[in-house]
Amino acid sequence: MERESLLNPGSTIGIIGGGQLGRMLAISARQMDYKTIVLDPDPACPTGQVADGQITDAYSSRDASRSLARSTDVVTYEFENVDADSVSAASELKPVHPSPSVLRTTQHRLHEKNALLKAGIPVSPFREITSVDDLKNAATDLGFPMVLKTATMGYDGKGQVIITREEDIEHSYDLLNAGGTELIVEQFVPFSIELSTICARARDGTIATFPPSENINRNHILDISIVPARIPESVIENARLLAADIAVQLNVVGLIAVEMFITKENEILVNELAPRPHNSGHYTMDGCDTSQFEQLVRVLTGMPISEPRLLSPTVMVNLLGEVWEDTDGDPDWARALELPGVSLHLYGKSESRAGRKMGHINVVADTVEDALYIATESRDRAWRRSR
Ligand SMILES: Nc1ncnc2c1ncn2[C@@H]1O[C@H](COP(=O)(O)OP(=O)(O)OP(=O)(O)O)[C@@H](O)[C@H]1O
Ligand SMILES: [Mg+2]
Repeated sequence: MERESLLNPGSTIGIIGGGQLGRMLAISARQMDYKTIVLDPDPACPTGQVADGQITDAYSSRDASRSLARSTDVVTYEFENVDADSVSAASELKPVHPSPSVLRTTQHRLHEKNALLKAGIPVSPFREITSVDDLKNAATDLGFPMVLKTATMGYDGKGQVIITREEDIEHSYDLLNAGGTELIVEQFVPFSIELSTICARARDGTIATFPPSENINRNHILDISIVPARIPESVIENARLLAADIAVQLNVVGLIAVEMFITKENEILVNELAPRPHNSGHYTMDGCDTSQFEQLVRVLTGMPISEPRLLSPTVMVNLLGEVWEDTDGDPDWARALELPGVSLHLYGKSESRAGRKMGHINVVADTVEDALYIATESRDRAWRRSR
């Protein structure tokens, strides 16, 4: 393949995966008059609704990913659970960012943790698990509680279980081993907060890191992101430096989202990586002068990346399927939008399910406390839970 050229507006970006991340990427691309084509098996997928074209086929189809590459100028993917071989097939025809090798590392927890260890990045102690005995030995080494996880295909806490006592080892192993994938166990980190940051690395190696967000999870799914995080400035700076270090050492071109635990002693341990836009970066759409999606468009096209600035304290709350279920499919958007600084983002999913990410609300305010109050109140109003 010849050297990568600068792609001016009018060029076409291929997106593997048609979820909300692809949708918001396509909207940012459209803003700058780039075209997008998405590969997704669902003809009604969130990205397809806003893209210029769709190839309706399986992610694992090499023919489909090759045909995506042929009809576009550069290719990216919006989730990790895509088939790395079909992404590689696309990369033989057109540039793919982040590279298939970054995808292979980050889609497998053991490869990812080993790569982080090798790079000298602090992670919570872990062991590879191939038998019940491995798990028993790990319990002796790591102590309880520990978190057993499938090495691949996990998301939103699926494919993981917390083990708190010896008696639970066997059935926990059986439970996760049933899926037939490799397993990893980690020491449970009694974190004081969870933090994440998204780092962009351009083709020329330029790096820019978004302000880290403090994340509150509910039922293993991101619920609220708070920016700036309510921790000392020095920890925030260290988190940004750590993320930049990871981007360089893994040779990422694109975005890398870094999820971290912050301990009571303000120590940082990296939990996991995602080589794509991240739910915890949705706040950037209204809170920063450049969003994570625009930044990715810039990387993919070879444009200069921006050093993103936080415009004002910003809080994001996720809108999960429950909001629809509990209101018979009729959330009260009008009341939710009455409050100041509220931006509503919906993903165009026609079917709601408990735990399904349907949209989010961003609130920009003068203080973090105000943003947090307004964001949760706005969601409660949509949810018809507020008087
Ligand atoms: N070792 C650990 N110690 C303490 N809590 C943990 C640990 N591992 C996971 N968790 C909790 O479970 C959440 C989900 O775990 P993780 O990020 O590994 O899985 P995931 O399924 O990939 O989630 P997602 O895709 O939503 O990021 C974490 O954000 C954290 O709250
Ligand atoms: Mg996670």
